[in-house]
Amino acid sequence: MTNDAALMTSWLSDPGSPAHGLPASAYTDDAFWQAECDTVLSQNWVCVGFVHELKNAGDAVPVTVAGKPLLLVCNGEGEIAAFHNVCRHRCLTLVDEPKNVGKLIRCPYHAWAYDLNGNLRASPHFGGMKDNRPEGFDPADNGLKPVRIAVWHDWIFVNLQGNAPAFEDYAAPLINRLEGMDFSRVEPVASLDFGEIATNWKFIMENFIEPYHVQFVHSTTTDQPLGDHYTIVDGVCLGSAVDLKREIGTSGSLGVSSRYLTLFPNFILGRYFPDQLGVYLNIPLGAGKTAQRRALYTTEGQTLSDADVEGLKKLWWDVHKEDHEMCERLQLGRASPVADDGGLLSPHWEDSVRAFQELVVRNVAGFQEQ
Ligand code: FES
Ligand SMILES: [Fe+2]
Repeated sequence: MTNDAALMTSWLSDPGSPAHGLPASAYTDDAFWQAECDTVLSQNWVCVGFVHELKNAGDAVPVTVAGKPLLLVCNGEGEIAAFHNVCRHRCLTLVDEPKNVGKLIRCPYHAWAYDLNGNLRASPHFGGMKDNRPEGFDPADNGLKPVRIAVWHDWIFVNLQGNAPAFEDYAAPLINRLEGMDFSRVEPVASLDFGEIATNWKFIMENFIEPYHVQFVHSTTTDQPLGDHYTIVDGVCLGSAVDLKREIGTSGSLGVSSRYLTLFPNFILGRYFPDQLGVYLNIPLGAGKTAQRRALYTTEGQTLSDADVEGLKKLWWDVHKEDHEMCERLQLGRASPVADDGGLLSPHWEDSVRAFQELVVRNVAGFQEQ
């Protein structure tokens, strides 16, 4: 916990009525961000990538988790592994952009090379000319350092500290809510890369799980009346949903029954009936910086025309840009002393936000969760 410990403890024990949001420092303070890296983002299952981007042997995708460089690698034996993306010689980062590395991950500095399972295969001239193995140096002890990984359908998660429950147990509240979904028919059709957004990762999550803003922020992109929405608060699965009595979407807008579900801390899944799914990859990069990508899926195995795909991409690009603008302004507002009390949360529409924030504080404070 940071030197804000007393502040956070009193926030937790006295929500107020209506409840207050997290104090501004939880979104702006580097010490709080560091505490999140050591707890929230290291002790839980954090989403880091998409299986469909790692289909071929040698496909490698670098990703940052809790400020640490990691590497996802497809080993060609039907498995994806996660490693610390750091050479064991001088600790250079090994791969700095998504690419196919072939059979070996070769460090650009002194050409040490690792196979796709992380074993060190070459350390040229390390002991002198033509001496690759000086005394006391065993390549078997100097492979890439693995990170605990779980693959669930198209989504890849890592648990840096290795101490989270088994993924299927951890994610049960989310998995249960997707019962009846035929994942074998879920197909990726497009992806969107939003790059870096000037906001704390928690604002992205909070925005997704409260329906209060939808009809105001998305008035031109969605037709989902506020009154048809409700929130979902179920342990590490927080979200909101809308059950429309009839589909009212017009061309280029979203007016369908939907489920907006998250898995703490950073996984976001949107299910849009009858046949769409969207998953966001949110990568927290610092107190005020988050990268986001989104993969779009069909859920019934249907084939979409190029025009359909372009229409979907445009719709979701526009919707997310509307959200990002609000999230960036939430961040800017935290520079004001007015935000020290965290603002107010609707007891009806934002109980999910409060529950999310309590999970964060309990994790950071080291409290036993749930
Ligand atoms: S730092 Fe990688 S080979 Fe030297
Ligand atoms: Fe939104």
